[in-house]
Amino acid sequence: MRTPQRVTTDGLPERVTIYEVGPRDGLQNESTIVPVEVKAEFVARLVAAGLQVVETTSFVHPKWVPQLADAAELLGLVDLDSAPRMPVLVPNERGLDRALEAGVREVAIFGSATESFAQANLNRSLDEQYAMFEPVVTRALDAGLSVRAYVSMCFGDPWEGDVSVAQVVGVGRRLVDMGASELSLGDTIGVGTPGQVQSLISEFVDAGVPISQLAMHFHDTYGQALANALTSLRCGVTTLDASAGGLGGCPYAESATGNLATEDLVWQLHGLGIETGVDLAALVDTSAWMAGQLGRPSPSRVVQALAN
Ligand code: HMG
Ligand code: MG
Repeated sequence: MRTPQRVTTDGLPERVTIYEVGPRDGLQNESTIVPVEVKAEFVARLVAAGLQVVETTSFVHPKWVPQLADAAELLGLVDLDSAPRMPVLVPNERGLDRALEAGVREVAIFGSATESFAQANLNRSLDEQYAMFEPVVTRALDAGLSVRAYVSMCFGDPWEGDVSVAQVVGVGRRLVDMGASELSLGDTIGVGTPGQVQSLISEFVDAGVPISQLAMHFHDTYGQALANALTSLRCGVTTLDASAGGLGGCPYAESATGNLATEDLVWQLHGLGIETGVDLAALVDTSAWMAGQLGRPSPSRVVQALAN
């Protein structure tokens, strides 16, 4: 299989952690329900392809996201020790209870930077979301779990349009103060451009959030995800979220399409001589297989170029 020519450039990290969200962000948006055995094989293949972090599923309300209603059953089929980190999404205490029962070691809460998305995605106001997350974080930390926090709509919102940097930093800061050790800044509808990315990251650093705690989560709706990823690396970010095969989106955000495809990101990173630990050929095989399961081609350009 073709590989990118390796040419390094100054000012970039030597190693990047890819936080794989395909089984969660990818599959939550599929119109068909993927059989649980297929999901379990997807997770196992992603781990076998060298991904160190695989977000496996969500313990959200099954009526809100029926695609992931099988979360507990799935975790019964997944080896939670097979990768260093296998987090799950958890919005509230009920979700945490279910996650603890399933034996997870890391949970991710997901806040909104905007009032409209807090209402649409969590059935809570912007302020009420904190009351929902606080006991989740406290109890998770007490139980020895790690907690990641997402902030959605960091670069624009389908209902409210532009979102101010100060608003995003305010929400993110609050989730970090609650005890989240990693903060993932989400471009949920994929509208952001590199200048915005640079400005948001620098405002977070100025607000006292260390760059090592930041991760970036790009959807590729407007084709900006790879440029935004490279900009993030130049700012010193070393954790990037991506979804195998470019699957993804949010059922509660109009026009949220697929995430940055993991293969496209890996091609760029390996071309820049940045280590990821990922076997690109195995990953492409996995996404091509998953595309077969879903009955449509992968939107990832690298999968399209490399899959037979
Ligand atoms: P609600 O209807 O307000 O829930 O939903 P509630 O607290 O009023 O409870 C109502 C009933 O639901 C109760 O049952 C609860 O026990 C039950 P009853 O007492 O009536 O019999 N319930 C649950 N059952 C199972 N698991 C649970 C759970 N919670 C309550 N966890 C809620 C509030 C937050 C639950 C709902 O709005 C929800 O599930 N939202 C999740 C939506 C979602 O998953 N969106 C996609 C993920 S976010 C995303 O994709 C963005 C991201 O990728 C980053 C980016 O791109 O920006 C992360
Ligand atoms: Mg997302």
